[in-house]
Amino acid sequence: PVLVVDFGAQYAQLIARRVREARIYSEVVPHTATAAEIEAKNPVAIVLSGGPASVYADGAPSIDPGVFDLGLPMFGICYGFQVMAQALGGEVAKTGSREYGRTDMEVSGGALHAGLPGSHPVWMSHGDSVHAAPEGFEVTATTAGAPVAAFENTAGKMAGVQYHPEVLHSPHGQEVLTRFLTEVAGLEPSWTAANIADQLIDAVREQVGEGRAICGLSGGVDSAVAAALVQRAIGDRLTCVFVDHGLLRAGEREQVEKEFVASTGARLVTRDDSDTYLGFLDGVTDPEEKRKIIGREFIRSFEGAVSEVLGAESESGASVDFLVQGTLYPDVVESGGGAGTANIKSHHNVGGLPEDLEFSLVEPLRLLFKDEVRAVGRELGLPESIVGRHPFPGPGLAIRIVGAVSRERLDTLRAADAIAREEMTAAGLDDQVWQCPVVLLADVRSVGVQGDGRTYGHPIVLRPVSSEDAMTADWTRMPYETLAKISNRITNEVPDVNRVVLDVTSKPPGTIEWE
Ligand code: XMP
Repeated sequence: PVLVVDFGAQYAQLIARRVREARIYSEVVPHTATAAEIEAKNPVAIVLSGGPASVYADGAPSIDPGVFDLGLPMFGICYGFQVMAQALGGEVAKTGSREYGRTDMEVSGGALHAGLPGSHPVWMSHGDSVHAAPEGFEVTATTAGAPVAAFENTAGKMAGVQYHPEVLHSPHGQEVLTRFLTEVAGLEPSWTAANIADQLIDAVREQVGEGRAICGLSGGVDSAVAAALVQRAIGDRLTCVFVDHGLLRAGEREQVEKEFVASTGARLVTRDDSDTYLGFLDGVTDPEEKRKIIGREFIRSFEGAVSEVLGAESESGASVDFLVQGTLYPDVVESGGGAGTANIKSHHNVGGLPEDLEFSLVEPLRLLFKDEVRAVGRELGLPESIVGRHPFPGPGLAIRIVGAVSRERLDTLRAADAIAREEMTAAGLDDQVWQCPVVLLADVRSVGVQGDGRTYGHPIVLRPVSSEDAMTADWTRMPYETLAKISNRITNEVPDVNRVVLDVTSKPPGTIEWE
């Protein structure tokens, strides 16, 4: 892999993603990794990421100097650029003059910026700057606040930039990163969906051996792709479990039962516990209370389904040792990145599971980013309705009804939501919209007029947002025509709804969901 050394700021993961967009496999390692630990990962190049403002700051993170003796291609970014300059004998000055944000950069040559405009904008965020490049390095770009904005030593396969090529505000950043990887470091782009899928299938086969596995499907992309990979690896020794809690959107259960099964050939057990959920949710209006009830019941449902599967399997003398989960790389990095297989214990002995039952986890996606998961899903032949699906919360439509949940209200919301999704897809907006909660304000009524009569119905809120990771979001500037169509259809086709409103709040301050 290309190893991205994390100096503790938020950039390392994004850089790793960008390296993979250049079709080269990458992983994040903490800056505390020793040269020996780094070498043990068989890296093909090192990228030093951004970090705190100054290499002179108290407790400024550093790396094992031995890393510079490994003879690997190396690329420094921002703080990593300064760490590299200092370690190789250049000069980093504590200037106190900061550069922050969009900055014009003058390019004077070199391999990194070949073919790019001589002057172009880059995204800066630094206090100190490099004043002299190390010996053997050519200075190839400058800005007003950074006399050395980029340097390279192509013979030594090393280069660095003061700016952030990984952010979209540096319009040529991806090209520069790709040029480093392919031209300077000489790496072959080979991280493709087909290769990824093959490698993951092999790895699952090796881990599970002759064992049996179970996988909970949520209807979302991650669990579907994880299950599809494991299915390819071990066939019918995988059983998938799908819980219908009655809070799903229109067509979702069918998508899993028909399209997922048809495209993967997986064995599926559906468990319909919707009456139970609606019973417990009756009269509950507090969002966290709703979540608590659904979370608690979901574990019961899942365990009930698992014990059914286990019962059937044990009759034929088999045991199930593995639980498949759709954990992604960002979760792995955020939780400390520990390798190996965790064991989870199955609590709440409701479905008749033995108290001490333990599964080993199979997490085939634990090294992938979301876009890679989608690409692998397509490679495995999963339908677009599954791989292109927008994020949908586990508690489902229950947290999109402001007020108590009832069957009737769910039907109303389901109908409105289906119309909004249909029209957004028809208008080709699925890629531009990260997700679009459709919310029923069940305890609000407003006066309207329809046909000849006065109505007194409920409002529906459209909440289309654009986002990269759901941590922050902006409201999507959806075309008026699409909004008009959605509004028209919902008020005409959905009984009890006489008003459609648009949420124009970013996150923060608003969250994406209303509850
Ligand atoms: P918020 O509303 O916090 O949502 O801005 C951020 C992302 O998380 C999803 N979300 C949930 N997902 N269980 C989930 O599995 C939940 O309780 C839950 N609440 C919010 C939301 O759809 C968005 O993608």
